[in-house]
Amino acid sequence: MASLTIKPGRPLEGTLSIPGDKSVTHRAIILSALAEGESTLTGYCRGEDCLNTMRAFRAMGIAIEETPRQLRIAGKGLWGLTEPERPIDCGNSGTGLRLLAGLLAGQEFFTVLTGDESLRRRPMGRIVNPLREMGAWIAGRKGGELAPLAITGRRLRGISYASPVASAQVKSSLLLAGLYADGETRISEPQRSRDHTERLFRHFGIPIREEGTAVLVPGRSAMGWAAVPELSVPGDLSAAAFFIVAASIVPGSELTIQGVGVNPTRAGILEILTEMGADIAVINRREVAGEPVADLQVRAARLHGVRLGAERIPQTIDEFPILCVAGAVAEGETVITGATELRVKESDRIASIAAELKKLGVPVTETPDGLIIRGRAGAPLKGALCTSYGDHRVAMSLAVAGLVADGPIQIEDTDCIDTSFPGFASLLAQLLPEPGMGPRANPGLAPQGVIAIDGPAGAGKSTVAKLLASRLGYRYLDSGALYRAVAWKVLTAGVAPNDEPAIGRLLAGTRLSLEVSPTDARILVDGRDVSHDIRSPEISRAASTVSALSAVREWLIPIQRQMAQAGGVVAEGRDMGTRIFPHADWKFFLQADLEVRAKRRQAEFAKAGHTVTFEDTLRELSQRDSQDRSRNLAPLVPATDARVVDTSGLSVDQVLERLLAEMQLA
Ligand code: S3P
Repeated sequence: MASLTIKPGRPLEGTLSIPGDKSVTHRAIILSALAEGESTLTGYCRGEDCLNTMRAFRAMGIAIEETPRQLRIAGKGLWGLTEPERPIDCGNSGTGLRLLAGLLAGQEFFTVLTGDESLRRRPMGRIVNPLREMGAWIAGRKGGELAPLAITGRRLRGISYASPVASAQVKSSLLLAGLYADGETRISEPQRSRDHTERLFRHFGIPIREEGTAVLVPGRSAMGWAAVPELSVPGDLSAAAFFIVAASIVPGSELTIQGVGVNPTRAGILEILTEMGADIAVINRREVAGEPVADLQVRAARLHGVRLGAERIPQTIDEFPILCVAGAVAEGETVITGATELRVKESDRIASIAAELKKLGVPVTETPDGLIIRGRAGAPLKGALCTSYGDHRVAMSLAVAGLVADGPIQIEDTDCIDTSFPGFASLLAQLLPEPGMGPRANPGLAPQGVIAIDGPAGAGKSTVAKLLASRLGYRYLDSGALYRAVAWKVLTAGVAPNDEPAIGRLLAGTRLSLEVSPTDARILVDGRDVSHDIRSPEISRAASTVSALSAVREWLIPIQRQMAQAGGVVAEGRDMGTRIFPHADWKFFLQADLEVRAKRRQAEFAKAGHTVTFEDTLRELSQRDSQDRSRNLAPLVPATDARVVDTSGLSVDQVLERLLAEMQLA
């Protein structure tokens, strides 16, 4: 389980862009998959939540190709989805699961939707009940109140539904079901929730009408739409919010955040912070794919408390954890009421935030529908050991609190940050020169840095990683050797390499260590040097099987992190820049054309005395590429903040020089 320690830092300075909007990304993937033809998304969110939605559509027969800058989705039309062979795992994403439930209720096949522990606790009756009114067949735990949900697609009928909660997930789920229904579907809500679905429907040319807070779609007979050539997703205001508050509360800060979505149904945070005294200028307003976008200039300011009632909740629904941090440093009381929805988010956010702010020395009273926070009027918060409750927004809010504490705030369980904002910690580090969290602010490399290298087979990553390590006097962390060592242990113990439970038990009592120098590596399993034994074809095959098991990958994460703890490491292999070292100082993703990689592979085989044809090598690599990209566990994708280097036309030395130049070390 990852943890993050934040120390009080310097002012936040500079200009930044933040990841694409999570809500818009989910919807853009869905509507592109249902369009006729190929749509291209740029600036989309690569958080785990959206990756799970991509995986869901791949499992339903939609080709989705990811390049470092674009997502290409080959839509197959309204009726083009096919039955997935396995349950669809939406991970942590309420949006993913609820929107898919509506979409799948009207298909001609069966699906099961599930998610992680947090998602399986969240209320599903709010969508299941109206979908059943439309004729859907949905079974689930507690009568359909909890996921997993099993959906037998059926012909639906349009209904008029007044939702008791203002929820964009409920509204969007029913709108998607409405696309497949006979007759019109009308959804009204007590207050207007975020309207991304409506805007994107219009952008794709899907007929939709609005009457006050009600939205209407005409039903299946009127449906069918074309792909959009290029859809640019705005930056996520909910992600920007952490930096807006950080720049507001760290004295002397001055920050510009570019290309942020400022849709008024989402922009409550800007209004509320301004009411609290924040200095935020919204400039360069423009429209992108039907969504209002702007740049935000934020300067530090003295904040004061604010009173927020039920009418302010929907437009600010995801920003309460970070608003509470603003309230905690402000002068006077911040009182939030009418916010019971916060209790059914990724965690019970009223309880989570109240408990953690108390640890930071903030007097907080938890009420059934909100919080009363007595701000410390600019006095520092207390350093403490905190937990995120597995909730990404709680984790990031506490990280921001760490910038104004009198000692380090350590937050446990921070892997969840990746659900919406991979790269959050390194971005924060970049904005805080010196005493902050990392060496990134000054170009160049700290002597104890971590360099992560990933990329497809044959792109040259291990050769380059070894050379780079030796040039810098760093150690080379060869993750492939670790998987081989696990395979060795598994085979030696007589366990089948796909028997995950038995392997899990075996590893619990296994010790693995890697003794590395720039030129040599010895790998020890339970103290025995297996460096030579792990290089057999049998171990290679078993290593590829065990590396697909989550029990093995998870077991190796802390081991790899520990190996790199002293820094000075070039770490190479799958997941390096995304899961294992999300805060690496430098991340490279090496790529090369398929043909070039196949030629290199063939030459390697020839050197090792094996003769294989170029065509066979090419076919095998191409199959491996598509498996690697689409697999659920550890898919091959560059980290959002990785530098992508195409090695196709370059020699090994040229690649090396290029990486050194990128790090300004050449
Ligand atoms: C979302 C809607 C909101 C929000 C969530 C994303 C969406 O949930 O909290 O993070 O993309 O539709 P509710 O609709 O449950 O309020």
